[in-house]
Amino acid sequence: MNCVNSSRKIYVLDTTLRDGEQVPGAKLNLEEKMEVAKQLIRLQVDMMEVGFPSSSKGDFEAVRAISKIVGKDITVTALGRAVKSDIDAIYESLKEASSPMIHIVLGSSGVHIQKKFNKTPQEVLAMGVEAVKYAKKLMPMVQYSLEDASRSSFDYMWQTIEAVVKAGATIINITDTVGFAVPEEFGSLIYRINDRLKNLNPNVLLSVHCHNDTGLATANTLAAIRNGADKIECTINGIGERAGNTSLEEVVMGIKLHPEYYNGYTTIKTKEIYPTSRTVSAIMGIDVQVNKAITGENAFAHSSGIHQDGLLKSKKVYEIIEPEDIGAPPMELVLTARSGRHAFMHIIEKLGYQIIESQRESVYSDFLKMADQKKEVYDYDLEILMRQYPEETLKRERKVDLWELKDFEVIYNTKIPVATVSVKKGDRVSSKTQNGNGAIDALYSAIVEAVEIPVTLLEYRIHNISRGKEGLGKVSIQILYEGVLYEGKAIEKDIIRASGIALINAINKVLQIINE
Ligand code: KIV
Ligand code: ZN
Repeated sequence: MNCVNSSRKIYVLDTTLRDGEQVPGAKLNLEEKMEVAKQLIRLQVDMMEVGFPSSSKGDFEAVRAISKIVGKDITVTALGRAVKSDIDAIYESLKEASSPMIHIVLGSSGVHIQKKFNKTPQEVLAMGVEAVKYAKKLMPMVQYSLEDASRSSFDYMWQTIEAVVKAGATIINITDTVGFAVPEEFGSLIYRINDRLKNLNPNVLLSVHCHNDTGLATANTLAAIRNGADKIECTINGIGERAGNTSLEEVVMGIKLHPEYYNGYTTIKTKEIYPTSRTVSAIMGIDVQVNKAITGENAFAHSSGIHQDGLLKSKKVYEIIEPEDIGAPPMELVLTARSGRHAFMHIIEKLGYQIIESQRESVYSDFLKMADQKKEVYDYDLEILMRQYPEETLKRERKVDLWELKDFEVIYNTKIPVATVSVKKGDRVSSKTQNGNGAIDALYSAIVEAVEIPVTLLEYRIHNISRGKEGLGKVSIQILYEGVLYEGKAIEKDIIRASGIALINAINKVLQIINE
């Protein structure tokens, strides 16, 4: 293992709009690509790869349009094979960018050389050198990727690297194209290459590009950084070919948690990680796995009693990253039958209730019955539970009244779905009717109008959490109010009712925060 120099910047290239977009069904139109690109600018990636211009007119135009909005602080690049026509297409699509880079890929493994190209290794090497020389006449920055590097012979790889660096390549990218590498071995490979490369030309950056076929993309990338890699390639939420690419958020937060171990830092604006993850997921129509590291819905949710008890004593007990650090909604205690009395009482008190000592056990046992039925219990359910008890049981100390869904009707048809809702807050009842693009859209428009809080729906997800006709459906949503994200969840048998309650839950969180 190499002990690299003093703390160094690790450059982050995002390839969500090239490798990420290769996911079946994730093809984006120009407007959608522009939206992702603008979010990547907010995230402050160092480089972004935005397409493969020779592949289609649409890709060419998208690369061109994006390259014009990316300022000088971010290098914009596009991919092509080691042939003149591809390099010309890259040049034409990027020539108006402030900081453009040509990216050439050419196989270096035996199987690629023999089966894909049917050439000798020396013929393939010559193709690579010619391509770099040609690209270098067009643009100063040229990245050369050795495709399938992790399955290539070291001697041949080094011959190639030496030749393309002499021809003018400014970045050498070592790929694990098929997700074959293992961290220790990949780390040693990077160490050996870096050692020679820095002697050959210290200004050339060494980059890595890993795929996740055996779930090791993050580990391999981090091993490479530990062993001297200067630059990493990754995608948001780890999307990409097959099992995906290295996930940007995992590597960036890994480095942030262990800067000394990796002897490096990135300049990614980590508070933009969560908004970027949600933007990419919504635009590409690809859900983020709920337990996905860093950006999954459950990444900051705690449900076991032991953990909740510890967290209520100090967040540091079970939290290594604060959700706010990545721009995610605050840590969530999910009440379940396993939560325990401490977490239950904590949430009840947050909602503004005090249960008299002698009644606590009986209220807690009613909560457990509800938790057994519903699996997860949210604020709205607790309100319903609390309503069963006489005033002698509860002392109500609420600073602010919360909204409740009193009644609703949704008329669904193929023309104009209409929803009428009645919501209640304290003594005030507000009823509104709205139409929408669908049943939920109409319901949400009516609720937002009735509560008079202009929130924007960012994410809406339904999942079933038990089977059969009597099964329960869970709705999870995220809304935006004055630039802050709020989550709302609800579990019900009726999914439309669950949708309404999830929104009310999120709106009540807004009310609690603005009245704090
Ligand atoms: O996986 C791969 O090898 C690639 C290269 C084009 C960098 O995506
Ligand atoms: Zn790739």
